[in-house]
Amino acid sequence: MVNILAFESSCDETAVALLEIPDDINIQNINPHKLKFTHKLHSQIDIHSQYGGVVPELASRDHIRRIKPLCEEVLNSANKKISTIDYFAYTQGPGLAGALMVAGGFASALAYSLQKPIIPVHHLQGHILSPLLSDTPPQFPFIALLISGGHSQIYKVEITIDKNNQPTPEYTLYGESIDDAVGEAFDKSAKLMGLPYPGGQHLEELALTFCPNNSAEKNQSPRKLPRPMINSGDFNMSFSGLKTALWHWVRESTPADYPKIASEFQNAISEVLVRKSLAVCKAQKINRLAVCGGVAKNKFLFNFFQKSCEKENCQLFFTPFEYCTDNGVMIALAALYHINSAQKPTGEFKVYPQWAINS
Ligand code: KG4
Ligand code: ZN
Repeated sequence: MVNILAFESSCDETAVALLEIPDDINIQNINPHKLKFTHKLHSQIDIHSQYGGVVPELASRDHIRRIKPLCEEVLNSANKKISTIDYFAYTQGPGLAGALMVAGGFASALAYSLQKPIIPVHHLQGHILSPLLSDTPPQFPFIALLISGGHSQIYKVEITIDKNNQPTPEYTLYGESIDDAVGEAFDKSAKLMGLPYPGGQHLEELALTFCPNNSAEKNQSPRKLPRPMINSGDFNMSFSGLKTALWHWVRESTPADYPKIASEFQNAISEVLVRKSLAVCKAQKINRLAVCGGVAKNKFLFNFFQKSCEKENCQLFFTPFEYCTDNGVMIALAALYHINSAQKPTGEFKVYPQWAINS
């Protein structure tokens, strides 16, 4: 049995997870039922909502307050002593510099004092691998649609053999948003309709009041929002113009119309995301599509993807609800894939606020 203790503090969630791995694990074909996770997190939504967005300095300070108690809670509920940890892991980037320093510093100090190896983790790799935590995980290779507050990207994820002769996932980017991320478009559009931060979930709830059963057909409104770049012929996307079109509609409307606008917004986003990600599946001849990141919590989007993938004969994998937004479990899982390149603890560490995924 191998134990990995992972720390995440890249934005506005402090998260700690313990992953217990049986010795016979096959990382090329993970059976999530064989992995044991114990995890805790603290969300800073209450702190930042009064400012309408994340305040980096407040985020860092709160991570410092939370990380040690969360670590103790995880160890206590798993009934483990810190001395039983074999590897420490932390999110090295991308994210807010000051916030990243907290998990980096905490994990490095523990690893150094206990002389245990340390594994720096790329935050997006955590999100992209999180569909593997679902009851029926995708086989490699698969296409991953990452839709979070900071990123909207479509990757091919495959297992390759690295220079140490070890299997390792490789991520090839095929398309991304050229401006706003999907979560960002949700949050900003929600704000334009007077909803609290972060607005994604509130916008979804508002749309549900227009169409309680969440069906795409019933959601149709005579007035349409644009489907930006849907026929661009490549796999890139754009969401900032959609937000501007929504703003014009909102200005010409009363709050009674907002549920209709919110549901048309979800229709527009879903159509673009489905079209682009299925186009990558087709081009790569891979019929497995995995959806991850905070926006993957959206049930309307899930229904939309389910229907479209059924039609196109593509297998769909959504990340389990609790692992869509930032969490420590996805960081521990990504660390498992880098166990062979774990570093000797030196007490020093680096963070990368911007960081290419395969570097
Ligand atoms: O993955 P995540 O926790 O953070 C980043 O790494 O960026 O994603 C947060 C994003 C926010 O923009 C939030 O509004 C969005 O996920 N989100 C949703 C829903 N739940 C969270 N967007 C749409 N519908 C939801 N139900
Ligand atoms: Zn994230």
